[in-house]
Amino acid sequence: MIERLKRYAVAGWYKPSQVQDVRVPAGGRWILLLLSLLLAAGAVVQQWREHQRLQRGQLIYQQGWPGANLAGDDSSLPELATRCVNCHDAGSSAQSAFAPALNAAALRQLHPRRGGPPSRYDESSLCKLLREGVDPAWVQIPRAMPRYNVSDEDCAALWRYLVSR
Ligand code: HEC
Repeated sequence: MIERLKRYAVAGWYKPSQVQDVRVPAGGRWILLLLSLLLAAGAVVQQWREHQRLQRGQLIYQQGWPGANLAGDDSSLPELATRCVNCHDAGSSAQSAFAPALNAAALRQLHPRRGGPPSRYDESSLCKLLREGVDPAWVQIPRAMPRYNVSDEDCAALWRYLVSR
């Protein structure tokens, strides 16, 4: 290991004098190995969770929202009635649909909405819109856009999915 570090030192990564300081005792190597395995496992779990979120967001948007209900109403809605694509364009043309296209550009870019000052969405303003019908510029959205009882998790999943498009 020291030999390899010395080679890096020659390549200019370290000063040769620094190489002396990184000599690792034999037991320490196992600890380092264990630590790097733990870090790698953490990264895999993180990626897996991110993937799960994206999938959940896509499911809600395109196929229906299991267990969803409208704000102020406890009864579950039929899944097919809750899919966002029922009203929102899944494609790119904002003009062709009843409701605007929802994607990273539409949500994250600063532009005026419903006569308000220019605004953009982030995860929490999307949640506020979904729950209360209030957009990032504090303009009330028409009732044609339903208000939902949405959990933080589902909201995060929708945000991840929408800005991935
Ligand atoms: C029943 C039809 C309908 C459904 C279902 C629906 N929307 Fe909407 N949504 C609308 C309409 C109509 C608008 C535009 C209102 C306006 O500005 O006049 C809108 C606007 C929005 C906006 C604001 C966009 C902007 O630029 O400010 C977001 C975000 C949004 N919807 C998210 C969703 C999500 C996420 C879902 C699914 C969970 C969903 N909508 C389901 C009809 C719907």
